[in-house]
Amino acid sequence: MSVAESLLERVADLQREAEEALHQCQSVEEVESVRKRFLGRKGALNEILRRLSSLTEEERRQVSPPANRLKAWLEEQIAEKQQQIAEQVRQQRMRAEKLDVTLPGRIWTPGGLHPLTLTINEICRIFTDLGFEVVEGPEVEDEYHNFIALNLPPYHPARDQHDSFYITDTILLRTETSAVQIRVMETRRPPVRIVSPGRVYRRDPVDRTHSHTFHQVEGLLVDDRVTFADLKGTLEAFVRRFFGAQVPTRFLPHHFPFTEPSAEVHIGCLVCSGEGCGLCKGTGWIEVLGCGMVHPWVLENVGYDPEKWQGFAFGMGVERLAMLRFRIDDIRLFYQNDLRFLQQFD
Ligand code: DAH
Repeated sequence: MSVAESLLERVADLQREAEEALHQCQSVEEVESVRKRFLGRKGALNEILRRLSSLTEEERRQVSPPANRLKAWLEEQIAEKQQQIAEQVRQQRMRAEKLDVTLPGRIWTPGGLHPLTLTINEICRIFTDLGFEVVEGPEVEDEYHNFIALNLPPYHPARDQHDSFYITDTILLRTETSAVQIRVMETRRPPVRIVSPGRVYRRDPVDRTHSHTFHQVEGLLVDDRVTFADLKGTLEAFVRRFFGAQVPTRFLPHHFPFTEPSAEVHIGCLVCSGEGCGLCKGTGWIEVLGCGMVHPWVLENVGYDPEKWQGFAFGMGVERLAMLRFRIDDIRLFYQNDLRFLQQFD
């Protein structure tokens, strides 16, 4: 077989091989590698074309046209295949991105505020309407602000009721927001009118009505000529707005180390309206907050002259108020984050 004949045969083989290779191609990349293999600088066709130079004029005339036809044919086939694959890819993408505008939309559920947050907001709102300012204090407190300045020296029996989480010998998680009273008075001169919501901690076993972590709102007003009548008027106004204008209140003598005199505010039972039931334990009344006139020693502790300034203070449990307001009978529900519970307060 002459060189020319074997080259012609090679041209025919290449066409078959290229046809087969293109047929197998699935992707643009694969077509590109076929192009390189046959048409590239070091590709099969160039090899033939290079060898033409070693042929006689006559032989070249035989081999050259079919070789060039193959080249043109290959270029055309490859371009066609590229286009075909590109179209397939486009179709696939269209199928994948197909949008069915008749499908129902995704339901968007906005979050709601937690019932305790709602309750704190409402309490603060009522007092800000009455001219009080909202102030927050630290949850990690020292014994001085949490106890001593509030007239609870070490070994005072009232400390037993506040079984505390101590961090060091003198630093603890605050057991009451009353500590904020001291912090505020230390840094301001009267008149003072603040409420302070926040978390408090006590080492209590958890049950239906107790939690080791709960919330209080503390209130404090200091000015000259403040009397117990101001305390009563303010807290009655609060109770009427929070529980309803028709709910009766009563003030009972009580004892807190940081107030003198001290009182407990009761409201007429929300369930039985005074008849006596399970909620009010048959008394017809429910305790809702503690209060009193700021003890002169507390005023002295913060450098206020008790001859010149008087004040009243109060403290309430947020969980307790929320439970009464929303008729919730287990405090643990507030902390379990069960959506079936929480969604009722949106
Ligand atoms: N700190 C009290 C408690 O945790 C609540 C309280 C009672 C606060 C009377 C006061 C107050 O400011 O005057 O039980």
